[in-house]
Amino acid sequence: FAASFATLDGTAPLVIAHRGASGYLPEHTLGAYELAIQLGADIVEPDVLLTADGEAIMMHDTTLTRTTDIEARFAPRNGGYAVADFTLAEIKTLTVDPTGTAATSYPGFTPSMADPYKVPTFAEFLAYVRDYNNTNRTRIGVYPESKIPATTSQNTKIVDLMQAYGFTAADQNSYLQTFDHLAARQLADLQAARGMTVPVAALGAAVAMGSGFGVFDFVNGTLSPLADLATFAGGVGVALASSDLNADFVSAAHAVGLEVHGWTFNIADPIAAADQYGSFIGMGLDGLFTNYTDLAVAAVARA
Ligand code: G3P
Ligand code: CA
Repeated sequence: FAASFATLDGTAPLVIAHRGASGYLPEHTLGAYELAIQLGADIVEPDVLLTADGEAIMMHDTTLTRTTDIEARFAPRNGGYAVADFTLAEIKTLTVDPTGTAATSYPGFTPSMADPYKVPTFAEFLAYVRDYNNTNRTRIGVYPESKIPATTSQNTKIVDLMQAYGFTAADQNSYLQTFDHLAARQLADLQAARGMTVPVAALGAAVAMGSGFGVFDFVNGTLSPLADLATFAGGVGVALASSDLNADFVSAAHAVGLEVHGWTFNIADPIAAADQYGSFIGMGLDGLFTNYTDLAVAAVARA
């Protein structure tokens, strides 16, 4: 007897490790992704930005200050520490674990790679997941976000690397995402030109509009009706705090063939988290972006 879910295809919602097991280990590191996979993630999620020399790295912020030791290592450029002002070689000299505490942050976990707490390139991340899947006969998906500014060069680089590392098809548990809905369309077009079919998720806020629903595009300041998104996207990624994220929104998305993924489940307390997961799984969410992979896995198992 299999549990049934109110998801688009009736299967269990996907557990998406947001920036890796980022509630436990430094975000966007290979160590954090390895732990997420060990804890049962279906998909691992990174944000992607381009360096000064056009290389794709894994980074949420457009500056390097919050997550690395760059201020101790380099003088500011153009008044700051933008990712776009530093080369990959320079960024590779940084650590995201300047105090050395990550090694003991999750007792019992020992990363397999030599340098688990550096800034990875997107290519290194894809190679890690591909090789993990090949070795373990698994199908862990990847879910890269083209961070703003989601330029044509950045979108093209992401799609090229997905193709190069074999993440090309809709049946691989993988997705592409961005907050800029024009860029989301471009990610779909770039794939179509290469014969790729990885679903694209348009990010934003779930909003009621007239008798239907849409997703607010924060970048362009526009509201995209679900039916319009469904012409090129496979899903929408909406804020859990969206005022109109409810079972009616999810039903409307499903009615036009869109999956609904919610971000970000970031409650560390297991009891409070269980209530939150339960309520959103009940709405029929197809994917759960979580910082605490194990809590999402447990919630899906209970549902
Ligand atoms: O991609 C979904 C979610 O990650 C969006 O928020 O800021 O964590 O990238 P952010
Ligand atoms: Ca993201």
